[in-house]
Amino acid sequence: MSLPPLKLRNKLIPIPIFQGGMGVGISWERLAGTVAREGAVGIISAVGTGYRYPELVKRDKFGRPIGSIYTHSKEALTRMIGEAKKLSEGKGAIGVNILCAITDYGRVAVDAVEAGADIIVSGAGLPLRLPEYVGDADVALIPIVSSARALNLICRTWEKKYKRLPDAVVLEGPKSGGHQGFKYEECFMPEHQLENLFPSVLEETRRWGNIPVIVAGGVWSYRDIVYYIEQGAGGVQMATRFIATHECDAPLVYKETVLNAKEEDIILFKSPVGYPLRVIRTPFVERLLAGYNGWNGCISHCITPCNKGEEARKVGFCIADRLGSAWLGNYEEGIFISGANGHLLKKQGIISVKELIGILTGKMPDPTLEEEYVLK
Ligand SMILES: Cc1cc2nc3c(=O)[nH]c(=O)nc-3n(C[C@H](O)[C@H](O)[C@H](O)COP(=O)(O)O)c2cc1C
Repeated sequence: MSLPPLKLRNKLIPIPIFQGGMGVGISWERLAGTVAREGAVGIISAVGTGYRYPELVKRDKFGRPIGSIYTHSKEALTRMIGEAKKLSEGKGAIGVNILCAITDYGRVAVDAVEAGADIIVSGAGLPLRLPEYVGDADVALIPIVSSARALNLICRTWEKKYKRLPDAVVLEGPKSGGHQGFKYEECFMPEHQLENLFPSVLEETRRWGNIPVIVAGGVWSYRDIVYYIEQGAGGVQMATRFIATHECDAPLVYKETVLNAKEEDIILFKSPVGYPLRVIRTPFVERLLAGYNGWNGCISHCITPCNKGEEARKVGFCIADRLGSAWLGNYEEGIFISGANGHLLKKQGIISVKELIGILTGKMPDPTLEEEYVLK
């Protein structure tokens, strides 16, 4: 089967695959622009963009951007969106992922719109006020949810207050990389697995007039994509597989850390954001597990739930600092994120985005699978 295109607002996306936003610095302009050039959706992460262009922001002596204005930098995001658009050659679409939990959320949404983003994808909390920030700009708005109830609340609020509905919705299950929209125990319960959440969310979207559902969290292969499309999904969002590409913006040590991870090395851990965080057991995580507190004070004011470092001090680390360290290539001190299936990547190694899209659209064999599913 050839994957059907996805209609999103006024755009037709030839390949219904979203490359999920990955902060800090894992999906920036190079990955997003290259994915879009293949006809899919490339997504830039808007968190911690101040790490990308040192000359644009104020930093402390460790290289950390100071305050949320420089941590989530407008100038850096604007430059990234411009570069990604150039790379995309007008194909596919360029989205921006903005965590609801970041300080200056509304300002960053406006930054993304002014810089010409086609899409805003937003989770880690409910983006109930997102339409207010973007006004009547021509941008597709896509909330990330983990239940039909959350989607219902968003639709009711947006329709009543702003007379608009989401252009699509990402349903993220608990196998995804990074923060989970569930409590720790819920991540292992059958009723919260993606395949079991999907029918109720699909039904909810149909009550509001067929909002496309983009499924995420452990979706791995062409076979998985076909399964969800046949069940009624509009597309998929995938992140972990895109880490093992040449064009992924992460440093080589990040990619190698994911490639070397064994299944049991990928664990859920407490985060100052207030949701479980899926990470790889690297030296810093081992120290945290042994009771170490690696909090170094709050310099970035990166997220509101952290309460200017209060939660970071409790869990033993600042999320912006540790993801920033990973982006700077510091294996000892950084935190490295992966989805639950990241251990499968070692069967494939690092490939180009073009090859990966070939695999995911069934045109090339998948080296991570036992059996091959190639389009006849
Ligand atoms: C390295 C990494 C960083 C991520 N960072 C973010 C983020 O900043 N915001 C967000 O909404 N999701 C983030 N995610 C989640 C992805 O966008 C995506 O929805 C999810 O990982 C999909 O599952 P998969 O990795 O199994 O394909 C991240 C995922 C990874 C692997």
